[in-house]
Amino acid sequence: MATAIAILAAGKGTRMNSRRPKVLHEVGNAALLLHAWRISREIDPDLTVIVAGEGCDAIREFARASGISAEIAIQAVPGGTGHAVLAAQSKLAGFEGNLVVLYADTPFVRPATLRKMLLSAESGSAVSVLGFHASDPTGYGRLLLNGDGTLGKIVEHADATESERLVAYCNGGAVCASNRILAELLGEIGSGNAAGEVYLTDAVEVANRRGLICRAVECSEEETMGVNSRAELAAAESVFQNRARRDAMAAGATLADPNSTYFSFDTSLEADTVIEPNVVFGTGVTVREGARIRSFSYLEGCSIGANSVVGPYARIRPGTKLCRGARVGNFVEIKASRIGSGSKVPHLTYVGDSVVGEGSNFGAGTITCNYNGVSKNRTVVGDNVFLGSNTILVAPVEVGDGAMVAAGAVVTKDVPPGAVATSRERQVNRPGMAARLMKKLSRAKKD
Ligand code: UD1
Ligand code: CA
Repeated sequence: MATAIAILAAGKGTRMNSRRPKVLHEVGNAALLLHAWRISREIDPDLTVIVAGEGCDAIREFARASGISAEIAIQAVPGGTGHAVLAAQSKLAGFEGNLVVLYADTPFVRPATLRKMLLSAESGSAVSVLGFHASDPTGYGRLLLNGDGTLGKIVEHADATESERLVAYCNGGAVCASNRILAELLGEIGSGNAAGEVYLTDAVEVANRRGLICRAVECSEEETMGVNSRAELAAAESVFQNRARRDAMAAGATLADPNSTYFSFDTSLEADTVIEPNVVFGTGVTVREGARIRSFSYLEGCSIGANSVVGPYARIRPGTKLCRGARVGNFVEIKASRIGSGSKVPHLTYVGDSVVGEGSNFGAGTITCNYNGVSKNRTVVGDNVFLGSNTILVAPVEVGDGAMVAAGAVVTKDVPPGAVATSRERQVNRPGMAARLMKKLSRAKKD
């Protein structure tokens, strides 16, 4: 049967105290909305609708910039989750198939759990919802079961009686139902509740009244964690990091101190990589087999070749590719550059907008001057080049294969292959002059 997804991303997000829509706040360096969209991809829907409200321009722009392909339905006023699903009907009208409703503020639902909900729908449950046992149910809708174990009703925390509040089996947010039936059920729901909203959760009670069967599909509490405030955003970050650490280790990465390795949503570590303590992965990092990232390094938008070593204290910026067996050492910054196989940039160096061949060596303190205040220029360093310490490469400039540059050089002209370039004042030594100079200086100080 065809499947559609509605991601609810409207609502005021009042508890965030933010000018930005809540669903654009980030966990693992990805907006909550992007997490929900990536989860939805996994069940291969025929149609995806994002429901956006106030701030919909920002959401539209975000979707475009992040390559999210979805229809955007507008919910002009935040009339509740049921009202939002009705707003989605502007893009779903006539859709005959199952609709999965996902809340964009719930970033951890596993695709396998959504598949279970679809199975529940296919085996005759008119409305399937996600259930979990909450360690602290405050704030969540409570799932009230019928005698036969089917779901009879969901009561929101604000509307619950004292005894209903004691129920710890809660609504995780995701809902799955036939689109046509759900739209019909929601048409019958009023907004006579504590929030004055049309609750999606009330569809369960209406369905029961019609004699339809509803069921809860159970999942772990971690999956259903919702983000409503900054404190919950921080808690979600910690859940995300722990999950990413577990997944990386299961896939064969060694994390010397997992709690001090920080991941982004798209970090990819191949097997037999070793990550030392205190390493941060920004977005877009791939680390190939056998590479080692040493302590206190910060990487983003880069690919680290097999068996290379990065750090300690390295900063690898976007657009960088380290080829197999390259070495980047302490206090080195590399931006938008390709470092060839086996090349070494061991200490105190800045390499920007450069292409470096294989087997070359950068002396300590080498700097590419890639920016002249107006434009960025390229530096090309060939294979088996030796750059002496404190070399300044003023781009655009090229150092040919097998060339050497003497320490302290300011290289403004291309160096032909195999040449030795020197570019500094000749040293002059004046014998015995040090003592005379000291005497003169102390006399000058006394006067
Ligand atoms: C909701 C559920 C609650 C469940 C909890 C799980 C309802 C009525 N309650 O409560 O049973 O335990 O999630 O996390 O559904 N949204 C819109 N338009 C609106 C209102 C909300 O698009 O008019 C979106 C929000 O952006 C959010 C999601 O729907 O992503 C959930 O809304 P929220 O207000 O956070 O619901 P909760 O109070 O958390
Ligand atoms: Ca919520």
